[in-house]
Amino acid sequence: MKRTYYLDHAATSFPKAPGVGKAMADYIDTVGRNVGRGSYAPAQEAAGVVWETREQLCRLMGGPAPQNVVFTSGATAGLNLLLKGLLRPGDRVLTSPMEHNAVLRPLRQLETLGVTAEELPCDQAGRLLIDALPALLPGARAVVLTHASNLTGGLMPLASVGTLCRAAGVFFLVDAAQSAGHVPIDMAAMGIDGLSLPGHKGLLGPQGIGAVLLTDALAQALDPLIAGGTGSLSESLEMPPFLPDRLEAGTLNLPGIYGLHTALAYFEPRAAALMDRQRRLGGHLWARLSELTEDGLTVPGPGPGERVGVVSVDFQGRDNGEMAFLLERDYGIQTRSGLHCAPAAHRHLGTFPRGMVRFSVGPETTFEELDYVQGAVYELLFSN
Ligand SMILES: Cc1ncc(COP(=O)(O)O)c(C=O)c1O
Repeated sequence: MKRTYYLDHAATSFPKAPGVGKAMADYIDTVGRNVGRGSYAPAQEAAGVVWETREQLCRLMGGPAPQNVVFTSGATAGLNLLLKGLLRPGDRVLTSPMEHNAVLRPLRQLETLGVTAEELPCDQAGRLLIDALPALLPGARAVVLTHASNLTGGLMPLASVGTLCRAAGVFFLVDAAQSAGHVPIDMAAMGIDGLSLPGHKGLLGPQGIGAVLLTDALAQALDPLIAGGTGSLSESLEMPPFLPDRLEAGTLNLPGIYGLHTALAYFEPRAAALMDRQRRLGGHLWARLSELTEDGLTVPGPGPGERVGVVSVDFQGRDNGEMAFLLERDYGIQTRSGLHCAPAAHRHLGTFPRGMVRFSVGPETTFEELDYVQGAVYELLFSN
C-alpha cells in the first residue's frame, strides 16, 4: 500500500489520543445512561466523567470554574452561541479579516438584524495592528478574534487585546479552533470573556464535541440560543439561571465527552511537550517551504514564533487545487486546497479566489516527513 502523509491536522487531528475510540465504545456498550435525569449508579458515574471533563478544560484554559464550561458540538456551535446570544440590533462588534466562516457567517446573519460588524486593520501578513484598537473600542459590545488563523497559522496578540477590552468594558470573544492544544491559553491572564474550542483538533479528541468557556458576566449577558430540558428546575418554563444548565439544554453528547475526557487525560500531563513539538515542527515546515520562495512559492503570514503549525503556500502561476491533487496522487501527501472557509483572509492576503495549499502538522508528524514535503513541493514547482 502507498505510504501516506497526513498534513491536514488543522481540519481534524489524526490519530486521536490513545484510548479515545475505546472510551467512546465503552460508554455506549457498558454505561449508556443519561446524566442529570435518573439518579441510578451508572448515571452518577457518567455525571462524574462529565464533571471531570469540565474540570480538565477549565484547568487547561484558565477558565473561571468547571460550571462555566458549556459543552457544544464544536467550535462553530460555540461561536454561534456566543455571538447570537450576546449581540442585539444596534450593537457594534469588532473583528478581523483573518476570521473563519464560523465567525463571519453568524456575523453576517446578525448584520441583517441590525448588528454592525467592523474589521480591525491587519498588516499584509495578517498581524493585528493593535494600535488602532483603543480608538475603535468605545461603544463596541464585543471584539471577536480567532486566536490562530486557519490559513497562515498567525497568532493574534490576545493578552494585549484582552487588556484593552477589559479597560473599555467590551466583551472579548475568542475562536480557539486552531490554538487549543497548540499554544497555551489562559482566559484569566488574557482577559478573555468567552472562548470557543473544538475537541477534535489540537486536543486530540473526537469530532462532535467542543466547549465554550465563559465568565459569569458574559453568561449573564447571553440569551440561551437553545432552550429545553436540563433535568433541573423542571417546574419552570424559563431556562435555569445557573451554569452550565442555562446554556446547555438537551441530552449531551456523552460518547463525545467520554472520548474528550480520555483525550484530555492524555493531553494534560504532556501539554508542554506536545505543544513544543508541534511548534518546532511548524517552524521547520515554514523554514523548509520558505527556502523555495525564489523558486516560485509564496508563503504568506508571519514567521516562526508568531504562528502555530499551519503553513499555506501559493504556487505562483500554477493551479493550487491541481498542486494539492498532485501532492496526494504522486507523493501521498494529504493537504487542503481552496479557500479554507476563510474568504476574507484570502482576500486580505491577495489569494482570493485562487486559494492556496495548506499544510498542518500534528504531534505524530516527523521532521523527516516535512523534509519529504519540501522535496515534493520543489519537484512540483519544476514540473510541467
Ligand atoms: C479558525 C477556525 N474556526 C472555527 C472552525 C470550526 O470548527 P468546528 O468544525 O469544530 O466547528 C475551524 C475549523 O476548521 C477553524 O479553523
